[in-house]
Amino acid sequence: MSTSGYFATPISVYNKKFEGLKETIVSYADTQKEDVESGVAVSLKHNLKESKFDFLHKEDKVIQDLRQWILECWKLTIESVHKKDVNFDYFIPESWYHITEKDGYHETHYHANCSWCGIYYVDDGGSLESGQTKFLSPIDGMFMDDGNEFINQQSIFVSPAQAGKLILFPSYLKHSVSQFKGNGKRITIAFNGQSYEKN
Ligand SMILES: [Fe+2]
Repeated sequence: MSTSGYFATPISVYNKKFEGLKETIVSYADTQKEDVESGVAVSLKHNLKESKFDFLHKEDKVIQDLRQWILECWKLTIESVHKKDVNFDYFIPESWYHITEKDGYHETHYHANCSWCGIYYVDDGGSLESGQTKFLSPIDGMFMDDGNEFINQQSIFVSPAQAGKLILFPSYLKHSVSQFKGNGKRITIAFNGQSYEKN
């Protein structure tokens, strides 16, 4: 007899802080004309500012440094998951920041048109206990009893908004951001990625 685990979801965590990134984001946000400049899924986003979807392509050095580091982390994650070195091109077709004010939150969603996604936490806004990213298990269970309690125990992965943390996750993972209760600004950058083997 043998029992194995299948359908595990890889999630990577990296850490690095970037001097001046917060100030750069805030200076861009100060020029926003609308709260959700992307115009995407506005009804799911509450009391937060969102940039257009090209943020990691801005020319500011700190943003380019962050982008380069994200690409290096992403490559490491793919090589870890595939258990071999890869020679891929990496694309970030969509990237944006969120600045969440008190009581802001983001309802459950997933990211389309990408294989991997990332969230980089710039500032916790003064509260690690709120404004957490909550990833839901992709296992869609129905009947529950004591015999499959292990599914319940793995039904959610909570990621507090620690500054400098990067989370990389497959795009099929649904997630939300719980209501933020801090007095400052919770600031994150997120991206959608596609990667293809070089010809
Ligand atoms: Fe998201």
